[in-house]
Amino acid sequence: MSSHRRCRTIGAKDGDDQGPNPTGARPMRELIEARLSRRGLLKGVAAGALAGGLFGRVARGKDDPSSLRFAEIVHGIDGTHHVAPGHAAEVLIRWGDALAKDAPAFDPRAQSAAAQAKQFGYNCDFTAYMPLPAGSGNSEHGLLCVNHEYVSTALMFPGEGDAEPAGRQQAEIQMAAHGHSVVEIRKDGGTWRIVADGPYNRRITANGTRMRIAGPAAGHERLRTRADRSGREVIGTLSNCAGGSTPWGTVLIAEENFSDYFGNVPKDAPQAEAYRRYGISSDCEYTWWRYQDRFDVTKEPNEPNRFGWVVELDPYDPRSIPVKRTALGRFKHEGAQCIVNGDGRVVIYSGDDENFEYIYKFVTARGHDPRLRAANRDLLDDGTLYVARFFEDGRLRWLPLVFGHGPLTPENGFHDQAEVLIEARRAADLLGATPMDRPEDIEPNPVNGRVYAMLTKNKKRRPEQVDAANPRPENRAGHIIEIVPPGGRGPDADHAATDARWGIFLIAGDPASGTTLYGAGTGANGWFACPDNAAIDGKGRLWITTDQGGGAARTGTCDGVWATDVDGDGRATPRFFFRAPIGAEICGPSFTPDGRTLFLSIQHPGDVDGSSFDAPATRWPDFIEGMPPRPSVVAVTRLDGGRIGG
Ligand code: FEO
Ligand code: CA
Ligand code: CA
Ligand code: CA
Repeated sequence: MSSHRRCRTIGAKDGDDQGPNPTGARPMRELIEARLSRRGLLKGVAAGALAGGLFGRVARGKDDPSSLRFAEIVHGIDGTHHVAPGHAAEVLIRWGDALAKDAPAFDPRAQSAAAQAKQFGYNCDFTAYMPLPAGSGNSEHGLLCVNHEYVSTALMFPGEGDAEPAGRQQAEIQMAAHGHSVVEIRKDGGTWRIVADGPYNRRITANGTRMRIAGPAAGHERLRTRADRSGREVIGTLSNCAGGSTPWGTVLIAEENFSDYFGNVPKDAPQAEAYRRYGISSDCEYTWWRYQDRFDVTKEPNEPNRFGWVVELDPYDPRSIPVKRTALGRFKHEGAQCIVNGDGRVVIYSGDDENFEYIYKFVTARGHDPRLRAANRDLLDDGTLYVARFFEDGRLRWLPLVFGHGPLTPENGFHDQAEVLIEARRAADLLGATPMDRPEDIEPNPVNGRVYAMLTKNKKRRPEQVDAANPRPENRAGHIIEIVPPGGRGPDADHAATDARWGIFLIAGDPASGTTLYGAGTGANGWFACPDNAAIDGKGRLWITTDQGGGAARTGTCDGVWATDVDGDGRATPRFFFRAPIGAEICGPSFTPDGRTLFLSIQHPGDVDGSSFDAPATRWPDFIEGMPPRPSVVAVTRLDGGRIGG
């Protein structure tokens, strides 16, 4: 999401209560040298870059070290999108496109909640391509599952210049524009098209979809409300940012900035400290609480506890009830990326995307059954949630969030596992987790067995707060950390282990700043700022999307997609592949199984200061006078039909 909208919630924890700092405070260069000079982990290009004095500049080697076979595009800012030569980037589905036979034609000047609930939602984020039939590797016919994170009122409604909806009708349209879409898609003659009346098509919304609450916190008194005395049922999902998909063919929808939706918070509430820790305050982004009591914290003090979870959805059953899996903990989940461990257990990595928040992983208690899909139905209800503590010497320890373990006891206000999960942030504080620079996608790489953590930025980090894992004060451009589980490469990596090693993979930003770290051979347009989401291609290469949050004027380029090798001579040498239209961030990169299509969400196009429905910064993608910009998913293919990246 753009920080343009988020300025009030980001940094809720700034300046106080930042937890222990196991890596200490030392100058950035010294910290990185300490990490890079250690034997083993970071030998190779990054270490070579340091030895060659590559801080602060970018060099292009004589020979191209990258395995990526495309010519990179150039930095820049304009109103449309750009892709590397030899590729097509076609708009597949836009905000307002019909997902049902009886959906009304999109008319943003006469929108209704009923129409929106049958149309593609706003601000698309995570995408997952799920092949049809289920379990196949079909790369030309499948379901595209897409999150809709939030709405931009000023760009959505004519005559609005404000973030707040003008009345109940607009608020209900906004609720219907949130959530998730499942849409059948098919590749015909090399071009992807949606099947507008496909039988699997479905909208999940903030206000119209009943969900089940499962796992250790289900039924807990802090999840009970007047509307749901069982604490096991909830309406809707909010702030659906990134996500993941499971090996058994379900989609994980991560609830991120749920605090934005709750208002009228009483100052002396019994849960005041818990609200504060999650940024829940009367200074909320939306004013839905005026129209629905459940968003009014004075009236429903437990409703906020029913959001901030990971939701599991079976897209292959259009009548399935989505399930909030409480075992994975409650925080501002950016995503929920799965990998199957060698022993069959499933490990899900997740970042808590706020300044000074943490990196988590969940390990299932049982292994998944690859033969019997139904056997995995409740696999995510039983397992262990861990949070990461980074040590300066390159060790990483995963600390279990288990009731009764260490400080997670009644003396500290935890009376059962449900409370540990509901207040996962406070539990992680007490365990001594390492506060990070906005952890977004945490992407396990099945090819080399390592894990890549996108740290978007954290300009609130003061010089005395830097540590080896977050080495840059006032970090405006972010960095990427590489976690190395024990056991070996690829399938030998033990993602369930409680220890790992880690290193800095890349420090982003303009090399002219003198504080960056890229591999030797990074080109003039290879540098980027603010890594956010990521995907791994079939060769294990990392595809990174960025979210500068209004920073384009400073960097001179719109957000985009950069790809890099993670091993070999091309390690950490990003290459610029795709550029967004002005105002947009790019989210949700996902590949088809054959690697020949890359789906990208273009979120909040035109969202720059002063831009509005009536006078937008761009009218992408329609470019029709009177039509506002429309968040859309783009399908990128190669003109010769080959694999993206070669
Ligand atoms: Fe929804 Fe962390 O961006
Ligand atoms: Ca973002
Ligand atoms: Ca994001
Ligand atoms: Ca991802």
